[in-house]
Parts: sequence; structure tokens; C-alpha cells
Amino acid sequence: RKYRNTVIAANWKMNMLPSKIKAYAEELKPLAAPAKWCDIVICPPFVMIPAAQKAFRDSRISIGAQNLNENESGAYTGEVSSEQLSDLGAHYVIIGHSERRQLFGETDITVNKKVHAALQANLRPIVCVGETAQQREMNVTEELVTLQLKAALAGVPATKMRRIVVAYEPIWAIGTGNTATAADAEAVAASIRAVIRGLYGARTARAISILYGGSMNAKNAFELLSQPDVDGGLIGGASLVPADFAAIINAAN
Ligand code: G3P
Repeated sequence: RKYRNTVIAANWKMNMLPSKIKAYAEELKPLAAPAKWCDIVICPPFVMIPAAQKAFRDSRISIGAQNLNENESGAYTGEVSSEQLSDLGAHYVIIGHSERRQLFGETDITVNKKVHAALQANLRPIVCVGETAQQREMNVTEELVTLQLKAALAGVPATKMRRIVVAYEPIWAIGTGNTATAADAEAVAASIRAVIRGLYGARTARAISILYGGSMNAKNAFELLSQPDVDGGLIGGASLVPADFAAIINAAN
């Protein structure tokens, strides 16, 4: 359809239970009819990755993680490395979600290290950027998102860039029901693509999938996904309900 795939990714955050994944999968699979060029990803908490892989083995859904530790291995109690995730068979990893930046002290610098660690282990990073409500009011959204993106991508060679997915998630839209307008989502997605064009050239910029996240649901997905530079969604709340997540997947067709 375009030069790039659509990506519909679920971020379950710290929700769901290992014992409930099978039922979720059995409900979702018959409802979702993804197009060939649409990649579906589910990112459960670490401990549920094996159960999710088992439940979705016979489907086109791939599994991702919500975070990783940027170090290779060693004395980092409680952490999980990129190599461990990739050895497990995870394909994607969310990096720099605003909740990690705000609640767990992640910075543009740690985000950049995590992007490198993910690429090193052949995982596809879903790099999250986005502004607060105050920053939007101050009219610095595009500058802020540009800064976050350039910092996240520092040192990433052109050959690896095509493995990266970018997610634009305005913080004020996350979990609030206050979705960005399609026009606002498109404007920032287009500015993200322009930054990538400046760094890597037009061909690469055209090939990168840019997602929108923040109160995307079965009702508003179609309009958001119809924008020329919005190539998918990163979905929190609505991804926990199989019928809603399936409706978003089908809205991407
Ligand atoms: O990463 C997805 C997310 O932050 C959006 O959450 O619940 O607003 O869809 P939600």
C-alpha cells in the first residue's frame, strides 16, 4: 500500500495475568483479520512473554517487551537484557515510554543506550517520544519531539535505522480518553518523518513506520490511521479488551 508496513502494537503495561492470556488469545484470534502489510505486536510484562508466545504461536501476532536494561549482562539485580529477550524469541521492545521516563528516571541518554542494546540483539525498538500538556501549550511540541528523537537515534547507522519504529505519544493523551486530533497526530508524525529525512535521507524516512499512541480506541482508530504519516498505533487500555484491540487491527485495513 505504502512504502512501509502498518504496525499495531499493544502495550499491556502492568496489566493482565499469565493464567488469562490463553483466553485473551482465543478471543482475539478469530476477530482480528490483519492485512498482509500490517504487523501486530503484543508487549506483555516480562514474566508473561513465554505464555504469550505460546498462546499466539499459530497466529501472525509477534511478541515484544516493554523495556530492557541497556547493559549486556552482569550485576544488575532485577533487570532483563536485550540478549535474554531475543534469546527468548521476542521481536520488538518498547523503549523510552513516557511512564518509564517520568516514573523510573529514564533520560534521553538511557533511551539512546537502550536503542543500541536492542539493535545489537536484533530486536526492533519501538521508540517513544511525546510532549506534556504544558509543553504543548508553550508551543514547543515539535522541537521537543525532535530533540527526543535525535537523542534516541544518536549513533544509529543508516543500515540499522530501518529496524526502528517510532511512536508519538503525547503524554496528555495517555490513559485520559483525551485523544489527539487526527490533524495534530498527523502534524507531529510528519515532523518526525522530516527529522528522519534530515538524518537518513528520503528513502529511509519513507520506510519508517510512525505510530500514534494515547487513548486510541475502536472508535477513533480509523481516522487516526487514515492520516498519511500515521502508520499504526501503540495501544494501552483498549488493547486489554480483545474485541477492542481486534477492531483497531481491522480499522488499519
Ligand atoms: O503505550 C501506549 C500508551 O501509553 C497509550 O495508552 O491507555 O492511552 O491507550 P492508552
